[in-house]
Amino acid sequence: MIGRRDLLKALGAAGLAAAGSTGLPARGATPALKARPPATGGRLHAWDFVARERPASLLGPDGPNTPVWTYTDDLLPVLRVRLGDRIRATLRNALPEHTSIHWHGIRLDNAMDGVPYLTQKPVMPGESFVYELTPPDPGTYFLHPHCNESGQTGRGMAAVLLVDGDEIRAPDTECVLAYKDWRLAPDGTWLPAETLAGASNAGTFGTLRNVNGSTPTRHAVMPNGDVRVRILNLDNTRIIEVGVEDAQAFVIAIDGNAVAPFALDTWRMGPAMRLDLLVRAPARGRSFRVIDYFGATTFTLGTFTAEGPEKKRAPFDPLILYAPDIPRADPARAERLGFTFGAAPGSAAEAAAALSPDDPLAKILMDALCVRDNAFWAINKASWPSGDHRNLPPPLGLLQAGRSYVFELSNVTPHPHPIHLHGHTFEVLSTSRLQRPRHFADTVLLQPKERIEIAFVARPGDWMLHCHVLEHLEYGMMGYLRVAA
Ligand code: C2O
Ligand code: CU
Repeated sequence: MIGRRDLLKALGAAGLAAAGSTGLPARGATPALKARPPATGGRLHAWDFVARERPASLLGPDGPNTPVWTYTDDLLPVLRVRLGDRIRATLRNALPEHTSIHWHGIRLDNAMDGVPYLTQKPVMPGESFVYELTPPDPGTYFLHPHCNESGQTGRGMAAVLLVDGDEIRAPDTECVLAYKDWRLAPDGTWLPAETLAGASNAGTFGTLRNVNGSTPTRHAVMPNGDVRVRILNLDNTRIIEVGVEDAQAFVIAIDGNAVAPFALDTWRMGPAMRLDLLVRAPARGRSFRVIDYFGATTFTLGTFTAEGPEKKRAPFDPLILYAPDIPRADPARAERLGFTFGAAPGSAAEAAAALSPDDPLAKILMDALCVRDNAFWAINKASWPSGDHRNLPPPLGLLQAGRSYVFELSNVTPHPHPIHLHGHTFEVLSTSRLQRPRHFADTVLLQPKERIEIAFVARPGDWMLHCHVLEHLEYGMMGYLRVAA
């Protein structure tokens, strides 16, 4: 029996095959979208974050408590501003170790980027730091620490940041699905966030799959209405492949940046990636689901049931967002630089990567990793120093602000890597494995053996470039670019 999904897949594959495998189809390029009117915000948001341990019942109301680390009393705060609004966020550190806030995907001033030792001094226990920024782009973002990342993020530190001002018309219902696993023992205590076996492979996975800090979520939507679903993969490790069952869904934004809407088949999201969908809700009493199809068994991220007053059925028009307003690089005049994401030279991970995963020798080599060899991964054969960032390595590249760059990213490992560049929104020009329309993003999933070209106009400062599987960056797959003013 052929299901609807298989049909969609077949149709999608045919369309993409016609587009060829080198350049990406222009679908998703911005000209189809209307220009955004000037920002209307201007408010100041003064936020107080106290990073500390708080009890949370992750294992259900009757289960044992878990000592989570959070910014507020909410397990996962959803912060909301309008385009043009200013943010003044005071971070007070009541954790036993240093921390900082990185505003993932926001094109902010380098001094506010939250990378300890590179853009600011680490915020030590008992200290505070004030972040001031005016987000220049609307969309779906998040914030997280940038030290001991798998540990701090693994215990909960994250917040969703929504910047309004991109909608031509408001949807009837909106909802956030923030995906994140917990790595818990049955008694509610933490299992180690990182393991050498995980760090040297695809990463260490959580034991409890979760959305919005609770078990898979239920939402009420307006019958026949339009639902904007903002999906964020906030997990340390897990890749999800998102699809919608029993409703028509369009992709309307990627990493917060509007695209010319296209029908969703499935969309693969590595850690840190975001996807905004517009879904046409069914008639009253019926439901649709947002599902992760990546693993052997599917996982439901959210069930949406149409309830309450019914909207009159009208044709589905998914074009509800204005075009992004992001400087576009000129690939013809751009300087080209290559970045190869690989195993650290001489590491056991490098030797094992050369073998097939079921080769017994690969297993022996991986077991040998129990000898702590802190650099498993590298960018252009250089590994980020282990432990703290205190000994800054030299930059991976020297760039000039205002100039156009095309980066060719290549993956020579057997694992996918979601590659993130701080402080910039780049355009994904071409991919060689996963077909994607040309789009703006701040994180792009680089499949094994894949080459991806991204282009952007450089902004001044020291900006991190790294894999967002947190153990990969901690074990070497991280570096930075120095962009001269
Ligand atoms: Cu979410 Cu260095 O990044
Ligand atoms: Cu990685």
